[in-house]
Amino acid sequence: MLAAPTTMSHSIKRIGVLTGGGDCPGLNAVIRAVTKTAIWKHGIEVFGIEDGFQGLIEDRVRPLSARDVSGILTRGGTVLGSNNRANPRRYCVRVDPTTGPVWENVTDRCVETAHRHQLDAIIVIGGDGTMASAAPLVESGVNIIGVPKTIDNDIVGTEITFGFLTAVNTATEALDKLQSTADSHHRVMVCEVMGRNAGWIALTSGVASGSDIILLPEIPFDLDHICENIDFRMNKGPGFAIIVAAEGARPHEGKQMVDRVDPTSPDPIRLGGIGRWVADEIAKRTGVETRSSALGHIQRGGGPIPADRILATHFGYHAIKTLLEGKRSRMVMRQGNVFGDVDIMHAVGKQRLVPLSNPLIEAARAIGTGFGDGRTPEPAPATSEDNHSVVV
Ligand code: F6P
Repeated sequence: MLAAPTTMSHSIKRIGVLTGGGDCPGLNAVIRAVTKTAIWKHGIEVFGIEDGFQGLIEDRVRPLSARDVSGILTRGGTVLGSNNRANPRRYCVRVDPTTGPVWENVTDRCVETAHRHQLDAIIVIGGDGTMASAAPLVESGVNIIGVPKTIDNDIVGTEITFGFLTAVNTATEALDKLQSTADSHHRVMVCEVMGRNAGWIALTSGVASGSDIILLPEIPFDLDHICENIDFRMNKGPGFAIIVAAEGARPHEGKQMVDRVDPTSPDPIRLGGIGRWVADEIAKRTGVETRSSALGHIQRGGGPIPADRILATHFGYHAIKTLLEGKRSRMVMRQGNVFGDVDIMHAVGKQRLVPLSNPLIEAARAIGTGFGDGRTPEPAPATSEDNHSVVV
C-alpha cells in the first residue's frame, strides 16, 4: 500500500529509488547516500528501480542492500540504469511506420508497480524532464522526493545540481589542452560544450580556462564582433584564440542549431553543431586557420570530482531527511550554501538560465573576455600574464 498522507516519519517502511534522464557524474554517489542513510539510520528497506521510469512501467524493481551500494561513490554513470524517454504521461508504446510514434498514458502501470512493492515513497534523481515525468505520479498520490541532477545546472529552485562541477572540470581540462595546440599552430580553436539552453558550462569552463571568447545561449552573438576580436588577437595579440561555444548559442539573427530530433522522446530536440559553424565562418571571413572540437558526452562520463561526491552525498542524505520529516512531493536543493527543499512542481517546465547580471560575466568582461556581442573593449596587447603558452 502507498502511504496515506502523514507527518509520521516512522510510517516509512520501504522506498524506491530511480535515476532518470541523461546520466551524469554523481548519480551513484546519491544512490549510495540514499540507501545507506535509509537502511542504517532509519531501518527503511530500499528498492532500486531500473532504467528510470521505464523500470516502474515494466515492473523492474530489485532490493538494494548497503553492500550493493558499497564502493560506488567514485563510479560514473548509474548502477540502476537511466532513460530519457520514459515519461509515464506520454509514453511511446510503438512507432507506427506510417503515422509515427504512438503515445499512451501509462501512469496507472507505474502506480501499480509502486503498490505491488509497497513503496511508501520514491526518491527520483533527475533533471527537469524527470521531475516532469514524476508529476502524474505525484497527482496520483505517490510520494516523490526529487534530487536535482544535470551537468547543465539549469534546474529552477536550486543554485547547483550535482554533476555540473565535474562537467566543468572536464571541459576546462579540454580547453587547457586546446590552448597549447592553438598556440603552436597560430590557430583559432572553437570548442563546443553541452548545456542545452543554458550557458553555465560554457561560462564557467570558459573563465576557468582563460578562453578569449565565450558564446552563451543567453547572449546572441554577432560574427562581425567575433572576427574583429580574432583579427586583433592574431595581429596585435598572442597570435591564437580560444572560443568556447555553448551548444545552445546562436547568432543575433539566427536560430539554435539542432543536431538531432528524437521523435520518441518527450523532449525531442538535441542541440549541436554551432561550434563547427562558427569555426567555418571565422575561417571564411578572416582567413585564419580555425578548427573545432565538440566535447559531447565526454562531459557526462567518468567519476565525479570530490566536490560532486560531497554534493551528491548531501543531497542523498537530505532526500531521506526530508522524507522522514513527513514531507511529500518535495525536491531537495541548495540555496546560499544551505540545504533545504522546494515543491517538486516548482522545477517542472522551466529552465534556470544564466542571468545577464551574473557577476562572472562582469568579471570576465573586465579582464577582456569577449561574449561576441561587441560589448567587450578591445583587449590590451598580450602581456606575459595573458599569454596562454604552456610552459613545460
Ligand atoms: O541534459 C544533459 C545533456 O547532456 C545536455 O547537455 C545535452 O544537450 C543532452 O543532454 C544530450 O542528450 P542525449 O544524451 O540524449 O544525446
